[in-house]
Amino acid sequence: MTVDFSNVPDVDTQVRGEIVFEDMPSSHELERFRALSKDWGKKGKVVLSAGNLNEPALAFVGGGKKGRFSNVTLRSVTADFVRLCTAHSFTRLSLALSVIDSAQDFSWASSSAVAEGVIAGNYRFEKYLGEARKATALESFALVGGDMDGLMRGHVLGEAESYVKNIGNEPGNVINPLTFELIATQLSGKFDLDCHVYGESEIIELGMNALWHVGKGSTTPPRLVHLTYKPKEVEARKRIAIVGKGVTFDSGGLCVKTQGKMKNMKLDKSGACVMLGVMRAASALKLPVELHGIAGLVENMPDGSSYRPGDVIRAMNGKTIEVQDTDAEGRLTLADVLTFASRVEPDVIIDVATLTGSVSTALGNYTAALMCEDDALSEALLKSSVTAGERLHRLPMDDELLYEGLRGDHGDLRQASPDGGGAISAGMFLREFVDGAKPWAHIDMASTAWYDREFGVYTKGCSAYSMRTIVEYLSGL
Ligand code: BES
Ligand code: MN
Ligand code: ZN
Repeated sequence: MTVDFSNVPDVDTQVRGEIVFEDMPSSHELERFRALSKDWGKKGKVVLSAGNLNEPALAFVGGGKKGRFSNVTLRSVTADFVRLCTAHSFTRLSLALSVIDSAQDFSWASSSAVAEGVIAGNYRFEKYLGEARKATALESFALVGGDMDGLMRGHVLGEAESYVKNIGNEPGNVINPLTFELIATQLSGKFDLDCHVYGESEIIELGMNALWHVGKGSTTPPRLVHLTYKPKEVEARKRIAIVGKGVTFDSGGLCVKTQGKMKNMKLDKSGACVMLGVMRAASALKLPVELHGIAGLVENMPDGSSYRPGDVIRAMNGKTIEVQDTDAEGRLTLADVLTFASRVEPDVIIDVATLTGSVSTALGNYTAALMCEDDALSEALLKSSVTAGERLHRLPMDDELLYEGLRGDHGDLRQASPDGGGAISAGMFLREFVDGAKPWAHIDMASTAWYDREFGVYTKGCSAYSMRTIVEYLSGL
């Protein structure tokens, strides 16, 4: 089969500016840095020394209280530092790692944090802007000292994050199930992954009616993408499936959203984008795990052929679902994709989805929700999220009364519970479609998928949230 790539949107990572790794600075240079660093304790505070032709300018960014300083803070202030310097039109920076903080040893992890922070701070989504609107970007960034292996890892992570952001930021008129398929196919070629894409007739043949129904109102047909990564040189320690919600645009369907709630709904493919980033990073880092990245791609649109409230749908695992609200489409698409993922027989399934607005109400916009009944998997993910600097909070799944609300009148399951707890009941709904013998974790990151301002490793737009946590988890297996 030949694939026509002429329509594929250009989403590849172009890391702006060159990063070079240099040797340690001279002791004379170190003294000069130290003399200037007297009052830079306050987080985010920048001290700029005036440069002249003979002596380059020096900049310092405070990292906050010493006891609280971590590699996550380091990564964040590095990104802020890059943004501040480019805002002052500095395009060539040199950072001497050994003098950032005397308490900070430039180990593998700190070096990784800095390299990742540099790339994140230099990232913006500007491909549709005129030249005059484009912000100054770094031309070169010299990292002096540090651990080479860590720097390389940070570089890989930063590139994977930029890649996720690039795709996530593309609008609904560019990314649809078909263009997403092209992007996944292209990724598989570049990063040595297996790629299998199922078309509409195959989705129907597999019995993925829940996924199929959601896409019925769109002029673009649905797709199911299955990417596989296998380590080449070592035996895989585990087989893991990563499932991403891939609603390329969520209008709400017949239960159409209001303008205010709809305007940002190109973000509804974030989970699928994160899945691509995880596959890319795992391959580049040669992680010793077998990984299956699976996403159901659909566009949720109102039309004469849309699915309706009241429809009863038989999902791939045989259970019937009574539709309540065509805007609760994510759980329908994920239901079948989780069944599909279970049949791959992985040791662990993790799904990532912009599933419910309720998660923002419960946790605010800086924390994602974890729903997982397996304590060991839960602990491992929460620990990884701390290291990765992504807040994640576990929600309970044991409320039997809430669960009763999911019993349908004319179908086995009601699509949404009437009793509140929107994020949890959506998680309980998904649970019905996972093979119960396997540890499974559901990450609802509707709260953190998108930011309207720049801070730390985030720019305006897609945050690539959860990618860092999942790669950290996989790296620890
Ligand atoms: N994609 C949305 C969830 C969402 C909301 C993501 C805000 C990011 C920001 C999802 O499909 C949705 O519409 N959920 C509904 C479910 C409800 C109809 C049961 C919600 O959360 O309001
Ligand atoms: Mn919706
Ligand atoms: Zn949605």
